[in-house]
Amino acid sequence: MRYSIATIPGDGIGPEVIQETILVLNKVGEIFGHQMDFQEVLAGGIAIDKTGMPLPKETIEICRNSDAVLLGAVGGPKWDNLSGDKRPERALLGLREALGLYANIRPAVLYQALKEASPLRSDIVEKGIDICVVRELTGGIYFGDRGRNKEGKMGESAYDTESYSVGEVERIARSAFEIARKRNRKVTSVDKANVLESSRLWRSVIVELSKDYPDVALDHMYIDNAAMQLIRDPQQFDVIVTTNMFGDILSDEASMITGSIGMLPSASLGEGSLGMYEPIHGSAPDIAGEDKANPIATILSSAMMLRFSFALEEEAKAIENAVMKVLENNYRTGDIISKGMTLVGTKEMGRLILQELAK
Ligand code: NAD
Ligand code: IPM
Ligand code: MN
Repeated sequence: MRYSIATIPGDGIGPEVIQETILVLNKVGEIFGHQMDFQEVLAGGIAIDKTGMPLPKETIEICRNSDAVLLGAVGGPKWDNLSGDKRPERALLGLREALGLYANIRPAVLYQALKEASPLRSDIVEKGIDICVVRELTGGIYFGDRGRNKEGKMGESAYDTESYSVGEVERIARSAFEIARKRNRKVTSVDKANVLESSRLWRSVIVELSKDYPDVALDHMYIDNAAMQLIRDPQQFDVIVTTNMFGDILSDEASMITGSIGMLPSASLGEGSLGMYEPIHGSAPDIAGEDKANPIATILSSAMMLRFSFALEEEAKAIENAVMKVLENNYRTGDIISKGMTLVGTKEMGRLILQELAK
């Protein structure tokens, strides 16, 4: 088969991790007999520099007409003083919205070989961690009404609005229940229903929808407690379904307890087969251009692409197994290094994964 993939290297370490991932996908194509056609497009800070806009129309068009989108990261200090809609991050939000990608799947799995990299106590890590965060991606406070009021008793003020409709909650909850059915049949809905009206609607919609899924256990947790429970007893979680912002925060936390933010992949999905695949981390300006970035989160995101957009399960597993093998052979980038392991850079990590794939 032939697959067209729009690639968005973006900024900072984005191009470095995308480069290694393209090599991996090409190798998978070679081994399994698929043709992968990559088309690189501009988004983020680099697009601002080259076109004056973070998300050129052409980028949206090419992504829309591709079979999948692979994104590195956008943003960096160079563009931090631009106003909201001109910032690099707008590109990401704009793409998610334009492509209708409302379900962000972020699996946090602790690889046995990476136990030492988790900051959690060994008796907690020993039991293994396997959580799937299902984050709502095109609603909530990220997309609500926002603005500024010049006059006020305490000076100028600014506001962002958290708002969810029944339909928006229903579709993300359905995604979560469906995913739970293929896992351990437990959904924890995380909200702030003791304070927020939008959370109260969120909770009631999920309770209603859960009647369609009597085989899946549902519980509810407030976000503050969830942040704590994730550290105290991560094994209690199977699928976590939550809002755009809570999901953003909880998934960074989940990544760290499983070793590093450099390990956690994601898939952003809508109604069709088109998806966008990206690591959950950002452009890491502090290590950009130094061959230090861990490419595994992006490489594992490409495995999710093969699985969800192309239905190539065997090929996805091949990538995941190759990553696992390299970790078992004790190779580590700086973010996951521990005593007795061999430190490698971005390129070498990519090469080792390619080598495993070819075996
Ligand atoms: P970040 O994820 O870029 O970096 C946080 C820390 O984690 C840094 O110390 C960084 O070096 C480290 N890190 C991240 N990815 C790593 C990897 N693959 N290997 C090794 N270490 C890694 O978050 P930040 O510093 O808050 O944000 C930097 C920029 O990235 C900002 O402009 C932000 O808006 C943007 N951002 C973009 C995305 C995205 O494009 N999806 C996601 C998050 C942040
Ligand atoms: C992520 C990022 C983005 C988000 C930013 C860069 C807009 O943090 O993908 O997790 O908050 O969704
Ligand atoms: Mn984030």
